[in-house]
Amino acid sequence: METINTAAAARHIIVVNGPNLGRLGVREPDVYGSDDLAALTRLCEGWGGELGLHVEVRQSDDEAEMIGWMHRAVDERTPVVMNPAAFTHYSYGLSDAAHMVTDTGLPLMEVHISNPSARDAFRKHSVISPVATGTITGMGFYGYRLALEAVAHLIE
Ligand code: DQA
Repeated sequence: METINTAAAARHIIVVNGPNLGRLGVREPDVYGSDDLAALTRLCEGWGGELGLHVEVRQSDDEAEMIGWMHRAVDERTPVVMNPAAFTHYSYGLSDAAHMVTDTGLPLMEVHISNPSARDAFRKHSVISPVATGTITGMGFYGYRLALEAVAHLIE
């Protein structure tokens, strides 16, 4: 009979990036830094490895696709790290989908590279924060590491 060593199996986590984050490196480098999404992906995968997590980094400019990823996370019991980007500030659809994740007891950590509260007025409000497990802002790419550490701690 085949046996599975679940203790040794890395836990699958998705890191979901919203609109325009595929343009990291060229988009406002003074705000988001000069490294691109591929660099962020490599960092997240490496940090995941250190934490015993199998990290899968995704990016979409499409609200419906991101909502679908939340539905699948619920069905497959996958913890989520999410930078909702501009959807943070107005997508009730994504907020409801994120709520479904945390409502089932799965962690969903919200991350922002910049500190949106210190920027334009429209960035001061998040429709994701009230349904997220926690929020990390203003730490650059390192915020993703902090979010992954939080997930690793929460699923221990
Ligand atoms: C962002 C902040 C948002 O206000 C903005 O729309 C983004 C990126 C961040 O990572 O700092 O696209 O989520």
